Amino acid sequence: MSTNILEPISIGALHLKNRLYRAPVLEGAGQKKDHAAQYAKYFVPNAQAGVGLIIQGNTIVLPEGRTSLGMTAVEGKETIMELAPMVRAVHEAGAKIVIQLGHGGVYAIESWHQEARARRTHHPYAPSPPPWWLRPMHTGVHALSTDEVWKLIARFGEVAAWTREAGYDAVQLAGGNAKLLHQFLSPVYNRRDDEFGGSAAKRARLYLEIRKAIAERAGDDYPVLLKMPAVENNLVGQGFTLSEGVELARIMEDGGFAAITPTAADVLPNTAICRGSYPTATFTNDNIKGLLRKAKGNGWWDRMMSVSMWMAARKYPFQPVWNREIFRAVKQAVRIPVFAVGGIRTPGEAAQILSSGDADVIGVGRPFYAEPDLPAWFLDPSTPADREPKCESSNACIVPQMLGLPGVCYNPDVNKKDAPAKDDKAA
Ligand SMILES: Cc1cc2nc3c(=O)[nH]c(=O)nc-3n(C[C@H](O)[C@H](O)[C@H](O)COP(=O)(O)O)c2cc1C
Repeated sequence: MSTNILEPISIGALHLKNRLYRAPVLEGAGQKKDHAAQYAKYFVPNAQAGVGLIIQGNTIVLPEGRTSLGMTAVEGKETIMELAPMVRAVHEAGAKIVIQLGHGGVYAIESWHQEARARRTHHPYAPSPPPWWLRPMHTGVHALSTDEVWKLIARFGEVAAWTREAGYDAVQLAGGNAKLLHQFLSPVYNRRDDEFGGSAAKRARLYLEIRKAIAERAGDDYPVLLKMPAVENNLVGQGFTLSEGVELARIMEDGGFAAITPTAADVLPNTAICRGSYPTATFTNDNIKGLLRKAKGNGWWDRMMSVSMWMAARKYPFQPVWNREIFRAVKQAVRIPVFAVGGIRTPGEAAQILSSGDADVIGVGRPFYAEPDLPAWFLDPSTPADREPKCESSNACIVPQMLGLPGVCYNPDVNKKDAPAKDDKAA
């Protein structure tokens, strides 16, 4: 049966009025006193424009472990409860809202940002001591003991219970892009010999135990969604293939996840998850380059970032709907709803994905930075088919996000209002 974007869908207790969701892209709200207002500033216009679901960007379940300065990290229950007014405002504007929960693991800012490193209370978490080729990048990480893994699982359950109390409609585990959960799934990072390492099923166990802990603490009717890599690319021939990823997706379905967003990821955190071009606007901007140098405390880090983003843009250039093969393969293997994401830029592409049955819900990420009222366009059947998307997938949004700047479009060709001037000194 052919589905269209205006049709509602129920994912357990999560009832969506249509099939369009804002994919998690960071908002830069951090832990500032006004973080609820900051989130509301972005989300309420999306909801007013008709989006069915907003997935809030990665929130870190512990006070340390952010990978970007602008992520919210949970100090205690109050961090989540302060967001309740924003959740209510999104509901009043007509959309559902899901919070993504995760941890940065070896890529936590406490490993690379000099101020965060000086303040840290412990070494960044890792599933295992890193393999030799990653060791120079991951000095001083801490491989979690089995007891510490169980404590982390309990913490996910505790934080999820608070999110339910704050009114969120569900949680999503942030399982992709080389963060801690992905690191457990990956045979490259996870070389444990306890119950959390070894076979694919054992590497997936952390997810399943977190799923159980959330059911115990937040109630088993509180839906838990999952974003995970269903294929893991890497330079040295390890990682996992799509057929292994499909098997992992089946394991996750059996473990009680309510819906799944399968993506392609790289072993390293790079633009495999957000294909696009080299962000010239970032590396010609003195303000952003200055913040990068300040983060690392020396003058070469902006150049290293520039080279790595240039290489990533060559390896992962933009391609419309680049995850299609992946979400289609997972959709054919599981019964739970599959969320599509990655390079979906037009209502025509969304309609084609839904009508062919390749996925059940359509995710759009970066274009929400470029046009917050994008749902009005995607959901209006009378929009001319040749209407062009504003987002150019320039990836000028990535580095500002890492540095804690607000969640907006930083491509000066698209967003003249918010993109900082080339030599703007304001941080
Ligand atoms: C600046 C930025 C921040 C992102 N933050 C998150 C995040 O917090 N959690 C997550 O799962 N994915 C995150 N993503 C990935 C997006 O959810 C999405 O998968 C990706 O951008 C591809 O979709 P798009 O082509 O529509 O942007 C982020 C991407 C960008 C560019």
